[in-house]
Amino acid sequence: MEKKIAVILGDGVGPEVTRQAIHVLNAVASHFNHHFQYQYGLMGADAIDKTGSPLPDETIELCLNSDAILLGAIGHHRYDNDPGAKIRPEQGLLKLRKSLQLFANIRPVTTYASLHHLTPFKPRMLEGVDFVIFRELTGGIYFGNKTLSADGNSASDDCAYTKEEIERIAHLAFQAAQQRKKKLTLVDKANVLETSRLWRKLVREMQQQYPDVSVDFLFVDNAAMQLMLHPAQFDVILTENMFGDILSDEASVLTGSLGLLPSASIGNGGALFEPIHGSYPQAAGKDIANPIGAILSAALLLDHIGLSTEAAKVKAAAQWTLDNGFVTKDIDPMNFYFTSTIGELVADLIQDKIPNELHPENIELRKSTII
Ligand code: IPM
Ligand code: MG
Repeated sequence: MEKKIAVILGDGVGPEVTRQAIHVLNAVASHFNHHFQYQYGLMGADAIDKTGSPLPDETIELCLNSDAILLGAIGHHRYDNDPGAKIRPEQGLLKLRKSLQLFANIRPVTTYASLHHLTPFKPRMLEGVDFVIFRELTGGIYFGNKTLSADGNSASDDCAYTKEEIERIAHLAFQAAQQRKKKLTLVDKANVLETSRLWRKLVREMQQQYPDVSVDFLFVDNAAMQLMLHPAQFDVILTENMFGDILSDEASVLTGSLGLLPSASIGNGGALFEPIHGSYPQAAGKDIANPIGAILSAALLLDHIGLSTEAAKVKAAAQWTLDNGFVTKDIDPMNFYFTSTIGELVADLIQDKIPNELHPENIELRKSTII
């Protein structure tokens, strides 16, 4: 298979984790006989520094002409500390989502038994936790009309949704539930917000088209609590843009490290894959960031282009590294491996270069020949 992949390395640790994802994609290409062609574009603080714009037109062009987009991370604290900055890295990402109509952000939340001890939860609470958040990504309060009065003393952000915007992502969420545990939870604030009441009405109507999926409704405040109390109850969570932003960060705590989680943003004009973590500028260039979120994003990319066997192999290899203690500093601050070592290890596993029988004592002593 031949595919064109647009790559946006981005800011902070974005380039180093994305390089490992590419390393893994190259291993997939050579093992399974595919050809991936990479073309690089700028976005975020890096793009502002080099071009003055957080998303140059050439990057949009490049993305529109690709089969999939791989993104590292964007953002820099020099802008975080200056809320008044007129040009900000995040504007690039929001504009890209809107330009490509990437309306569905899909964030699978997986837990790993070997990492339960890193979370603030009791292990028995994490048993059976495996759900996916479908977050609407191109509407709601993020993109509504914004105002700031001339005296600077009042401001507003409108939250608006149309039937079409709600239904297109709801269809994807229902279809995902059909492939999974057949349960969909709509998270809203229908006791207060008109937009939420529209979401609820439309999802209720659509339920008839998916009779095998059971649907329940939760107010967002309750959902935030349920995620921490009984996370195993969820299968597919469907929600609007802002609630999804907040709940997906909250849900990441269940995994043990923000560095492990991937995401896909799909829509009419393309598909973008990125780890959910930020640019973590303090770690940039140190080869210590966790590349697993980026590598699993590459697995979602492979799934999206129809290469599900390849995607499964990447996921299994990533899981193997975690289960066997090959982890980065965020997971084991005393005894850790570098970003690039984990990437190489996953790539080697994909090409069956790692023997089945490893000697744990060698791994303990870092004597293994595999690294
Ligand atoms: C995310 C991020 C973005 C968002 C920021 C960087 C604009 O938090 O992808 O979740 O709020 O959507
Ligand atoms: Mg967020």
